[in-house]
Amino acid sequence: MNEKILITSALPYANGPLHFGHLIGAYLPADSYARFERMQGNDVLFICGSDEYGVAITLNAEIAGKTPKQYVDHFHSLNKGLFDKLHISFDHYSRTTSKEHAPLVQEFFLDLLKAGFIEERVTKQLYSPLEQRFLADRYVVGECPKCHHLEARGDECPKCGASYEATDLINPRSKIKNSPLILKDTKNWFLLVDKFKQELSEWIKKRGWKPNVVNFILPYIEDLRPRAITRDLDWGIPVPLPDAEGKVLYVWFDAPIGYLSIAKEWAIARGQPDLWKEYWENKETKLVQFIGKDNIVFHAVIFPAMIMGQKHPYKLVDELPANEFLNLEGKQFSKSSGWYISMEEFLTKFSADQLRYALAANAPETQDAEFTWDDFQIRVNSELIGKFANFVHRVLSFVYTRMEAKVPEMKDLDEDDQAFLAGLEGLAKEMKNNYSNFRLRKATQSLMEMSALSNGYFDKKQPWKSSGERLETTMAICLEAVKTLALVSFPLIPSSAEKIWKMLGFSSSLETILWEDVLKSSLQPGHCLVKPEPLFSKIEDTVIAEEKQKLYGHKPDRVYPALKEEVAIEDFGKMDLRVAKILKAEKIAKSKKLLHLTVDLGFETRPIVSGIGEHYTNPEELIGKQVVIIANLKPATIMGHVSQGMLLAASFESSLKLPSVDEAILPGSKIT
Ligand code: MF3
Ligand code: ZN
Repeated sequence: MNEKILITSALPYANGPLHFGHLIGAYLPADSYARFERMQGNDVLFICGSDEYGVAITLNAEIAGKTPKQYVDHFHSLNKGLFDKLHISFDHYSRTTSKEHAPLVQEFFLDLLKAGFIEERVTKQLYSPLEQRFLADRYVVGECPKCHHLEARGDECPKCGASYEATDLINPRSKIKNSPLILKDTKNWFLLVDKFKQELSEWIKKRGWKPNVVNFILPYIEDLRPRAITRDLDWGIPVPLPDAEGKVLYVWFDAPIGYLSIAKEWAIARGQPDLWKEYWENKETKLVQFIGKDNIVFHAVIFPAMIMGQKHPYKLVDELPANEFLNLEGKQFSKSSGWYISMEEFLTKFSADQLRYALAANAPETQDAEFTWDDFQIRVNSELIGKFANFVHRVLSFVYTRMEAKVPEMKDLDEDDQAFLAGLEGLAKEMKNNYSNFRLRKATQSLMEMSALSNGYFDKKQPWKSSGERLETTMAICLEAVKTLALVSFPLIPSSAEKIWKMLGFSSSLETILWEDVLKSSLQPGHCLVKPEPLFSKIEDTVIAEEKQKLYGHKPDRVYPALKEEVAIEDFGKMDLRVAKILKAEKIAKSKKLLHLTVDLGFETRPIVSGIGEHYTNPEELIGKQVVIIANLKPATIMGHVSQGMLLAASFESSLKLPSVDEAILPGSKIT
């Protein structure tokens, strides 16, 4: 064995089914890398598991009418099943509710506490007298402290975009019970991450990571502040102290420790309980953590600080390949709005390798990327089948039917032969490079180059017109190319590569062979092939059309916000609604959401600041529009701009439009 490599993929929340974006973000790249490194003879431990605590889970479980445990059990097994179907080769897939996890997390906590990196503080938090519990921000709604929008969320206002603490909301209410909340003192523990500023920034600078990661992290480290790492909640790992009843550790404190506890569980299951330390406590181990870009801070700053502060010699991350996001046909994947492809259903119609290939070809390695149905069809039909499988099939069926299924002997090599073999060798090296550097997109390209080169050779040599030693040499070389294609494609499309390997007559599995061995040794003349079968089925236009129809025609399962309390007509009468004509509309610098508008009310013009910027990215289109405003709202100053009134907007989930009033109705008209 050369090197010990510990590979982790971000622990997915057991809070919904995985989608394509997750897969290409942190799982497929990790799997290809793990398979590749095993083929290099390295000692790989590849682990992952479900992330099962956290407020988002308790909230969704509550909405689904389930206990958190029932809820995570469901998604844990669903996602684990999906990983199996996708042939993600974890050595161990566990979960943060496993019995090994909590003790290790509590040990971390106590170590950090003892070393003076955790501090107790009393703060005021929102408490629901009706529910008799403290509510985390996701459970809270109320009036925005900035724009006075009444349906602001616990952490952010959907109207003006302000972000704040839940305790800043005016008249905060319970999201579930709609009942009033009060402020109450509560004790929590804070991780003093700021104490690691120096150590972290020195460590990061030595990493040699991509500039976009480093440049994002360094300013973050400069601004580090103590972070609350406990919550008043009953779902989570208990704070291991007396007087800490009802307190659990924050999910982002416990989850990364899952990388250790899952390795430990793996070792115990193998009957060698300390084996995990040979990876986690071994300086020589290379730790590679695959994540999506939204997880960078926790993996590059907070978790490393936690490791630095406790007493075991656990490894710090060496490589952090962080991917950007994948969109679906131009928009973010969103299950609730129906903009979504169910992976389960997908895998009943298409193969795991078709998906793996298409996603790898569009991997969001340097910027956000996209999955589209048309692209999927082209990737499969023209590339995977048209180039790769086509060559494999031509060669195997030729030898099988015309050469008695036996590997012929390679005799004298002409110039074409030599050039082709050299080309194959060069591309195999390139594939190796791509995999070692986490470049899956490039790997699919090199694989296609190799297929195209091979088809070119076959066409040029026209074996169907050739005979004797010339034919034998040509076909022996073609079989070498098939073998090489199987080898280099294995990390990417493992089950198809295995099929080719079997058709070449090998009884071993590509899982157990070594990359260099295969490249060095040639197929034995006389060795028998197995009857070739097609590798993939072609994707018909009608199938793609149907899928697109389903996606675009889907009526989302909408969740309608509950109606508010009844009001009397007099209450409504207090509001003065008027028609206003928009004269000017400009973005407010440094704000994504805010627009500065000037409106004509007939009797006067006035400024209004409105949080609709994200929905009207080209504000000019608003000019001339007649809209409705609340004209007697108390003026407010938002980001230094005076706002006299508020625009009425119609919104549903993430979309928003301003209702407009017919031109025939003059600005200033009353709406009653
Ligand atoms: N569950 C988190 C997410 O999906 C990732 C957790 S990674 C770990 O964003 F480090 F906490 F394990
Ligand atoms: Zn607001």
